[in-house]
Amino acid sequence: MSEGSRIPGFYKLSLTARRQVVSERAGVDVLELGHALEQGGLDSATADKVVENVLGIYGLPFGIALNVRVNGVDRLVPMVVEEPSVIAAASNAARMVRQSGGFRAEVVESLMIGQVQITDVEQPSAAVVRLEEAAPRLLELATKAVPNLVARGGGPRAIDVRDLGQRCIVLHVLVDCRDAMGANLVNTIAEAIGPLTAEIAHGKLGLRILSNLCDRRRVHATCRVHARELTRTPRAESPVEYPPSSERTEPLDGLEVVDAIVAASRFAELDPYRATTHNKGIMNGIDAVVLATGNDFRAVEAGAHAYAARSGRYAPLAVWRRDGEDLVGELELPLALGTVGGTLRVHPTARMALKLLGLESADELAMVAASVGLASNLSALRALATEGIQRGHMSLHARSVATAAGALGDEVELVAARMATAGVITVEAAEGALREVRAIPPSRPR
Ligand code: MEV
Repeated sequence: MSEGSRIPGFYKLSLTARRQVVSERAGVDVLELGHALEQGGLDSATADKVVENVLGIYGLPFGIALNVRVNGVDRLVPMVVEEPSVIAAASNAARMVRQSGGFRAEVVESLMIGQVQITDVEQPSAAVVRLEEAAPRLLELATKAVPNLVARGGGPRAIDVRDLGQRCIVLHVLVDCRDAMGANLVNTIAEAIGPLTAEIAHGKLGLRILSNLCDRRRVHATCRVHARELTRTPRAESPVEYPPSSERTEPLDGLEVVDAIVAASRFAELDPYRATTHNKGIMNGIDAVVLATGNDFRAVEAGAHAYAARSGRYAPLAVWRRDGEDLVGELELPLALGTVGGTLRVHPTARMALKLLGLESADELAMVAASVGLASNLSALRALATEGIQRGHMSLHARSVATAAGALGDEVELVAARMATAGVITVEAAEGALREVRAIPPSRPR
């Protein structure tokens, strides 16, 4: 990705031209890119082998977040999402952040957790001690269960044991899954060591399964934005402006925006109702990257929200503070992503997404996804703390309303623009605008 992730005017290009630019930037053959995206990449016959009772394929838009720079490296970030404005918002925020050098991110440990539950334990505290002493034996058995992972440099690393009360013990086996998400590997290990664990504990073997609260595989991302970046009227990644400029309020001074975003962060820190929506804004970005790359978004969601509630009170995953004239954001969450195995084996679009990203490892993917989450959060808070989200959202939403009203090709932007100018974005307004657009003879400028 030598030329970077800035592509001014990308949204104005035709879909074919966008594919051309992206293929050149990412060094990917444009035909291969097109092929990977056709029909969402997956044919019904393949889908029929992936899950059960298949009738067909369900498509979602696949777009690219621009301007993303993580640890000094530019990335074109594929996002799969049905909500208008998510990709534009992440791209806008990433553009502000890149003025200060981009996102900084790191992976804090990289260990998955497998759980083995033992019930009906006679003397739990003595059983805990025996299991801790048997850790080398249990790790040896666990290692034998995943020879390919061990050959790739991963494998079981440690054992933790807890007495849960009610004669129930849980043993955690911590596993370095390298570039795999690791669910299958961890479950294999948990099942392999289950019987010996029960024998040593003098109890009855219960569940053997990974934990999606993978708090030993966390990613931390930060960013810094100067106040001056926040004053700028955001350049919507769409030609449609809503509401019309006459109805807009003056933009706030940059430092006022910084303070308003910090106040929005504090609101989320004080109130779980707000924290949930704040985190939804973060997950808008993360889930879209997780989906594009064929990863398990349910696992990511479950882990993120459990982590947000780890203190006993649901809290925001990202917080924002002022530092001089800068706004500084910090995000941490568990993120178990893979760049090998799973859906990637069968899904050409997911493989293409990784190719466009130009990643070396699952850790890098987690750092990019977290950065896009932070960008999504920044964009949402900036809009909410100033003019509200409806302007940006509705201008982009206008296009899907125009499509729902039957607009085709170039008509979509024309109908969307007419609705935005009138300040009414409804299917009825779109139908009216479409009738007007179609009444104009093609030779006359519309
Ligand atoms: C909408 O998808 C996401 C937001 O509600 C997030 C937020 O409120 O921070 C705008």
